[in-house]
Amino acid sequence: MPENELIRFFRGNLPIGIGTIESDLTIVEIAYNAGITIPTNCTSGTCGTCLVRLKKGFIDYPEDLPPGLDDFLVEEGGFLPCCMMPKGECEIDIIPPL
Ligand code: FES
Repeated sequence: MPENELIRFFRGNLPIGIGTIESDLTIVEIAYNAGITIPTNCTSGTCGTCLVRLKKGFIDYPEDLPPGLDDFLVEEGGFLPCCMMPKGECEIDIIPPL
């Protein structure tokens, strides 16, 4: 992964911070390092508490979706930042897609 790739965080259309992608960090951790708290509970993909929406870019989805996610949510850009990594630079709306 190239160095210094960024994740831009938004609340709706409002930019709220920029995090630097580091290998082995989840998106919740990258957000935290940028001063943004994404609420979590299980941190293992089960509860769906951390659900956010991908605006731009790609997420490394597991082949089998975790219990906190379904195909509909994925179509809406939903993913679980507690246990998923970005595939390069992306933009994330911390408001869930519902
Ligand atoms: S905190 Fe439970 S799915 Fe992310």
